[in-house]
Amino acid sequence: MFLPKTFRGGGYEVTINGDRSINVKQGDLPGKYSMAIYGDFDHIDKFCKKNGSLYEAVKDKNLIKTGDVLYHPDALPGEPSIPRGEGTGASEPPPQASYVMGHDDRERRRLALQASILNPLTEQLLRRAGISSGMRVLDLGCGIGEVSLMAARLVGRHGTVTAIDIDQAALATAADRAREQALGNLQFVQGSIDQYEPGRAFDAVIGRHILIHLRDPLAMLRRVYECLSPAGVAVFQEYDFSTVHLAYPPCPLLDRLMAVFRDFFGAITHGNIGTQLLHLLLEAGFRATDCRAEYPIMDGGPDSPFYEWIAESFRSIAQRAAAAGVIKESEFDINALEQQLRQEAASRNVSTPGPTMVGCFARKP
Ligand SMILES: C[S@@+](CC[C@H](N)C(=O)[O-])C[C@H]1O[C@@H](n2cnc3c(N)ncnc32)[C@H](O)[C@@H]1O
Repeated sequence: MFLPKTFRGGGYEVTINGDRSINVKQGDLPGKYSMAIYGDFDHIDKFCKKNGSLYEAVKDKNLIKTGDVLYHPDALPGEPSIPRGEGTGASEPPPQASYVMGHDDRERRRLALQASILNPLTEQLLRRAGISSGMRVLDLGCGIGEVSLMAARLVGRHGTVTAIDIDQAALATAADRAREQALGNLQFVQGSIDQYEPGRAFDAVIGRHILIHLRDPLAMLRRVYECLSPAGVAVFQEYDFSTVHLAYPPCPLLDRLMAVFRDFFGAITHGNIGTQLLHLLLEAGFRATDCRAEYPIMDGGPDSPFYEWIAESFRSIAQRAAAAGVIKESEFDINALEQQLRQEAASRNVSTPGPTMVGCFARKP
């Protein structure tokens, strides 16, 4: 078990709790933040031991604030480093062509960054759906385990979470994180969810941003139905790119990128899967549905993680978007994008809306 620790510096007081949530106090303003920490959480601890404070460990004092992502500055001996802001965006050929975001380290880090923004919405959905102590849960397309770890905490030591993904490296990261967080109630399975035969019934099957990537989401929901025990619950959270929300005051570059996401996901995937969700669950035989759409609107301050999230999400799709004719090859300077987005929003108190997410849960009668 990780022991709670408090660090002070730069006007901040940062407490890392036993459950690895982080409390940050700046002046009189306390807050509890869920921070995505790429790689091994113990890096933070080790750097704190080496450098004396979290503030020094992350070098940039501005990194410690609402919704931010902490990056450990260097690799520890024997570890590969993943430099920030470098790379071409080219990804290895995906094990399965249907996952359009690719399967490289950069994409896995993007998932962690995205999770730091979206996890609070997902946790509320899981709680509303009744994911609780003692339940047996299956997480489809778990990636680096963001949703699986959340579910594992909710079901506690009397429950279990089985998490499946096609990407072995993502699963290795997820398993490391579960070990670090002393969560012994998770098991990870490598394979395609289209072919997975669990051999046992679950109380809940959950998934975030997975149906959008599948050729036949309805067929998958029918399989989910079969995996559930009577009164079991299916819980899915998916994007919907039918409508994208514009920044205010207007930010033309950001608005153009959101339109690219809309066009790309509409052309390559089930871009309106969020709106389809309720219909698909009913078609698959589920009843007692609860469905809500929401999206984060973040402040466009200079330190917002929003710009990197959007720029890295664009990087993940850029090559395929060009191939699909959604963008022109030379339309964007990918490596400058994060900074350009930040500058565009500078000093105007811009509201920056993210893409819509639809959270839906439904029961097997
Ligand atoms: C957008 S990520 C979402 C990860 C995680 N659910 C989250 O919200 O952070 C989608 C994940 O689904 C996985 N995936 C896509 N198609 C799959 C399939 N057919 N079988 C198993 N995993 C799949 C990808 O490898 C990727 O890790």
